[in-house]
Amino acid sequence: MAILLNNGGFENQPWVDVWKKLLPDMPVYIYPDIPNPSAIKYAAVWNHPKGDLQNYPNLKAILVLGAGMEAIDADPCLPDVPIVRLVDPAVGDDMAQYVLYWVMHFQRGYERYRSQNLNKQWQRQPRILPADFKVSVLGLGLIGEKIATEVSKLGFAAQAWSRSEKNVEGVQCYSGEQGLDEILSNTNVLVNCLPLKPNTEELINKLLLDKLPKESYFINVSRGKVVNENDLLGALNSKQLAAAALDCFVEEPLPESSLFWQQPNVHITPHMSGATYAESAAKVVAENILRLERGKQAFPLYNR
Ligand code: OXD
Repeated sequence: MAILLNNGGFENQPWVDVWKKLLPDMPVYIYPDIPNPSAIKYAAVWNHPKGDLQNYPNLKAILVLGAGMEAIDADPCLPDVPIVRLVDPAVGDDMAQYVLYWVMHFQRGYERYRSQNLNKQWQRQPRILPADFKVSVLGLGLIGEKIATEVSKLGFAAQAWSRSEKNVEGVQCYSGEQGLDEILSNTNVLVNCLPLKPNTEELINKLLLDKLPKESYFINVSRGKVVNENDLLGALNSKQLAAAALDCFVEEPLPESSLFWQQPNVHITPHMSGATYAESAAKVVAENILRLERGKQAFPLYNR
């Protein structure tokens, strides 16, 4: 029995190296080179081609190699086997640190100090106290909850919104349509952690951005398509948003022609806020495979 590895074009060898050590009895076949499809018991995939997972008659589970579930959601022909999400604590830590970095950058006005440096200017800038600096996380999935919690632990006013009601220690939680309006009107930094779903596509648009106080900040660590990029550019140009830190875009890599590159108040990073690294993630996947091999449940399971 073997593992199918289809890492959607990302590097395979680091995963194979970890699994060789932790699962020495299980050969790893790298897609599309699968000599014997009926040997495949576990499919470890990222952005797999639609329908491909039907080709393995003895498949027992699908293990996803990233946090996003778009490729799974988009595949109408998945076999009826458990789908296991990847929850790598190292990714959650990275994403929380990415957000904290920009929250602190915006709250302390480090951008202004940079331009003061260039003008040899020694001058303190006013700042809002952390306890009054409202960081609003949209989306309370595993990553959103982790980010909101870490923001709160550092003494910022952590708030979060989810469609249905949730409670997170140290975080002021809002829900539903009315809750969305309330949180938006009371925000210094908006952090997008919403997954891309039909009901979140372009949810962050002019209508929503206009509900923020003037000169708020925006951080996007989820998916570009949750945002209407033209409306975001409009908000940055009109100073409805003072600045933004953007880690994901509708088109990636961000094309050279993108207007975001020319926007002085935008910080662009290449989808690295919570990149998956095989060193830690392959261990999480291997532990789930071992659990399944012992007849236990892997977790967390994805409920389509
Ligand atoms: C992911 C990502 O979903 O890197 O894992 O965006």
